[in-house]
Amino acid sequence: MVSIKNKNLKPKKASSSKVEMMEYIMPADTNTLGNLNGGKLMYWIDIAGALAAARHCNNICVTAEVDRLTFKKPIKLGDIVRLKASVNRAFNTSVETGVRVEVEDLKTGELIHTNSAYLTFVNIDKKTGKSIPVPQLIPETSEEKRRYKEALKRREARLSKK
Ligand SMILES: CC(C)(COP(=O)(O)OP(=O)(O)OC[C@H]1O[C@@H](n2cnc3c(N)ncnc32)[C@H](O)[C@@H]1OP(=O)(O)O)[C@@H](O)C(=O)NCCC(=O)NCCS
Repeated sequence: MVSIKNKNLKPKKASSSKVEMMEYIMPADTNTLGNLNGGKLMYWIDIAGALAAARHCNNICVTAEVDRLTFKKPIKLGDIVRLKASVNRAFNTSVETGVRVEVEDLKTGELIHTNSAYLTFVNIDKKTGKSIPVPQLIPETSEEKRRYKEALKRREARLSKK
């Protein structure tokens, strides 16, 4: 349920907090097979999601939960990786962000989807350490509207397991 706590905060467009990060896979990022370490990718996913949440809330947020993360295809040494993060929906004191990871083929420009993750971030008051309300999200495009709708179902599933 969306609480009345955030009624006084100005709603923000989904497009205003979008984040795009690029990474170039270097030897220190890989295992002995020349594949990107899973932990490194999880770190970048967390950072990309956190930046989108922070942009939406104009405040630093903490990671509360990361949903299932699947590694569909290996990312290799020398690959160029693009992480796209956006806030899918805002609730009371938390937001769901989605992060999409793609490898960019330098020669063709083709983008290969390798991972997707959903993360929940909570807006925290630095002084009190308590959770505080977040602005509501305005989805505009059909894709943003779809993500907004689906985020509520994921939240219900997530919180029912808590
Ligand atoms: C995240 C945290 C603040 C939640 O604390 P809490 O006591 O459950 O807080 P509240 O009951 O006030 O709930 C705050 C929000 O967190 C959400 N939340 C809490 N646990 C959650 C979980 N496992 N998954 C999804 N959302 C969760 C609640 O639904 C609520 O959101 P809402 O207001 O939009 O409904 C607390 O567990 C924490 O500080 N964890 C450590 C965070 C951290 O260090 N992360 C890594 C570094 S950033």
